[in-house]
Amino acid sequence: MSTPHIRISKLGQHIDQNVTIKGWLYNKRSSGKLQFLQVRDGSGIVQCVIFKGDVPEDLFKEASGLTQETSIIITGLVKQDDRSSLGVEIGVTDLEVVHQPKEDYPISPKDHGVAFLLDHRHLWLRSKRQNAILKIRSRLIQAIRRFFDDQDFVCLDAPIFTPNACEGTSNLFETQYFDDKAYLSQSGQLYMEAGAMAFGKVYCFGPTFRAEKSKTRRHLTEFWMIEPEVAFMDLDGDIQLAEEFLAFVVADILKHQKAELEILERDLSTLENTTQKGFVRLQYDDAIKQLHELGSDIKWGDDFGAQDETILTENFDRPIVVHRFPKVFKAFYMKEDPQNDQLSMSMDILAPEGYGEIIGGGARETSLDILERKIKDHELPRDAFDWYMDLRKYGSVPHAGFGLGLERLVAWVCGLHHVRETIPFPRMMERLKP
Ligand code: 4AD
Ligand code: MG
Repeated sequence: MSTPHIRISKLGQHIDQNVTIKGWLYNKRSSGKLQFLQVRDGSGIVQCVIFKGDVPEDLFKEASGLTQETSIIITGLVKQDDRSSLGVEIGVTDLEVVHQPKEDYPISPKDHGVAFLLDHRHLWLRSKRQNAILKIRSRLIQAIRRFFDDQDFVCLDAPIFTPNACEGTSNLFETQYFDDKAYLSQSGQLYMEAGAMAFGKVYCFGPTFRAEKSKTRRHLTEFWMIEPEVAFMDLDGDIQLAEEFLAFVVADILKHQKAELEILERDLSTLENTTQKGFVRLQYDDAIKQLHELGSDIKWGDDFGAQDETILTENFDRPIVVHRFPKVFKAFYMKEDPQNDQLSMSMDILAPEGYGEIIGGGARETSLDILERKIKDHELPRDAFDWYMDLRKYGSVPHAGFGLGLERLVAWVCGLHHVRETIPFPRMMERLKP
């Protein structure tokens, strides 16, 4: 009778039973009559012990010649083992080699440079750390959707081919669209504004594209953005929604991905604070004062530079909401502050510990006249916005929303220095492969 195939993460439920696992050889050592195979199957890593006396001689010999990443099927007895983090090990009774690589596996347990690892991203994904990061990403995606689905938002997919810019024209990817030009979407926001007027509350969640020429640790050319948009919502409501949302998804990770956070040796304090304390709120003017005290030479009216975001957030122990940025460097759709026409009803949420902006959003301009002026001032092609102006002609209402960059969230939650490890196959200025 064949033994059941069990995923490694579930072996703890099968102590003292015979099982089969299917996976790849991660690492190995031996001492005399014993061989210890570290086997991974994507759900976890388990130590499989082969005792010479328990298996046929040729099997013991075959096992001793196995190399890293050989694919194998192992049958054996699950034994409790309190020394391992999994709590079990397997006493091997049978082993079948599915495929043994002819060449040495390029990624050995020794340290490799980042460029080498990125060139081998298709293999690097198999490593313990990368598994942990991408499992956290996967769980975050699930939690993000659940937060909005549970609050009656309608998921409305935005197009990827677009006729116009949303976030300024400087970083658009242009592509041929039959006899026309199209741009890869920088943001689904304008479409979500149409959606909010149709459904009240909507979100989109998809890839967005920016021809970022800056090589920073925060920028990808292709990244995933979640963008909620709500009718009859003002800036305060928007900030509150973003705070509740972040607290919810971080709490979900703390609850369900403890093991992965441990693999990453993540200090949990700022994550715990995010779920328990309110966020810090700073008006742009106050943020500028703090930056000056921290030694920045930023001028009032400038957007934060990468270094400003780092120093401003380094000393906080929870996320920071910065609101009411000067309108000069914000997008055309931002609502002007009725109290001060130099400001916009905008907000960014910055992650602490030097991570910086993870969310950008705000209230949208509702006045047709002001929008007409802004489109002119921003030198945007008026034709492309005909449909958008209809939203202000027919039942225009105050509305607000935001965009969260998934990769920046993953970087902060996992405590990673650079966003390149937060997405399965990163796209950056100098990287299109693999
Ligand atoms: O601040 P941004 O440009 O805002 C918008 O696109 C709005 N239309 C969103 C909205 O209100 N619906 O981008 C939003 C977020 C940023 O806070 C950041 O997390 C992420 O998207 N982001 C990037 N992530 C990785 N690489 C890049 N090049 C990014 N550019 C923005
Ligand atoms: Mg922004």
